[in-house]
Amino acid sequence: MQPPVLYDNHNRPITYLRLAVTDRCNLRCFYCMPEHGIQYLPKKELLSYEEMLRLAALLARMGISKVRITGGEPFMRRDLMPFLERLSQTEGIRKITLTTNGVLTTPHVPALAKSGIDSVNLSIDSLDRARFARIARRDELPRVMETLHSLLQHGIRTKLNAVVMDGQNTEDIVLLAAFARDHAVDVRFIEEMPFNGKGANTPVLVWHHRKILATLQEAFPNIEKIPDEPFSTSMNYRIPGFQGNIGIIAAFSRTFCGTCNRIRITAQGMLKTCLYDDGVLNVRNLLRQYPHDDAPVEAALRRAFSQRPKDGFEAERNRSNHLPVRESMSTIGG
Ligand code: GTP
Ligand code: 5AD
Ligand code: SF4
Repeated sequence: MQPPVLYDNHNRPITYLRLAVTDRCNLRCFYCMPEHGIQYLPKKELLSYEEMLRLAALLARMGISKVRITGGEPFMRRDLMPFLERLSQTEGIRKITLTTNGVLTTPHVPALAKSGIDSVNLSIDSLDRARFARIARRDELPRVMETLHSLLQHGIRTKLNAVVMDGQNTEDIVLLAAFARDHAVDVRFIEEMPFNGKGANTPVLVWHHRKILATLQEAFPNIEKIPDEPFSTSMNYRIPGFQGNIGIIAAFSRTFCGTCNRIRITAQGMLKTCLYDDGVLNVRNLLRQYPHDDAPVEAALRRAFSQRPKDGFEAERNRSNHLPVRESMSTIGG
């Protein structure tokens, strides 16, 4: 049977759900969370696994085919693996991927490989232990590297994500790119966004995508552009002789909104139709209000999909409080 196609009001197909399964994290990366004073959500405010499965099944019937599991750190939520198992049996969900910080992931890698997960994106902002510890405020690089090697050993397609931060890890641009020479991993550099939980004003972005590219071009003069997959967030490059490709994600410059195919469900069950909006529908309350009837939930979702902002700038302007972004990425999932 042909899967249904879900379009938004800008004629963009919506096929990709980013599902945050927890707001908890075992790192404290400064670009994502303040070090102290974070209040984790009480369990009853989180979507339960049953609610997530119900929602995933509904969205799959509407046209979603790819689910990325995010957090917080997904493995901070108990029983994640049995949940993934059940999610993978959902009709219409053809691709399941995961974004993790790798600290607790190593013991789960064999099961992930068996589960047929499509790929894992591993957040790793530095290959230097001291720099990593400064950024993440936890000395966890060894456990992250263990996860990385285990993912590669198990043949799981892996991408590395590094947020590029002025004065913190710009030395790592070349080091991380060089990692793709010797290992079959794609390495992606991400512009820093203002989702640090502090409500800081939108920063002047020093390390924008052009500067990241210029740094790569200086170190690897034969780097060349390759075609991007449809709906890709990254602009992609190859360096001859390298096993993995290099990507740059202009997450703050928002260059890829025209082909945005994704929606988000936050840890507390809010729908975001753009990363930069402040939550457009409380799906958790709807699921609880209509425990045995998906029709009103589907209607509300369709309404939200027909009112999507055309890009992240419009979404930011539409925020109800008209204040700059002040959430932590830990509840949104990136
Ligand atoms: P693939 O599914 O492998 O293409 O990964 P992805 O880029 O969709 O997901 P990932 O979780 O690895 O995110 C990498 C970075 O891209 C994170 O910093 C995300 O916040 C950012 N990102 C992902 N989707 C969007 C988006 O729709 N808009 C913006 N502005 N940034 C995004
Ligand atoms: N800016 C850019 N990327 C961020 N991420 C988390 N917070 C930010 C931010 N403020 C990234 C993580 C992870 C992905 C899901 O989002 O590093 O790789
Ligand atoms: Fe989509 Fe918003 Fe990201 Fe643009 S900024 S790609 S519209 S989620």
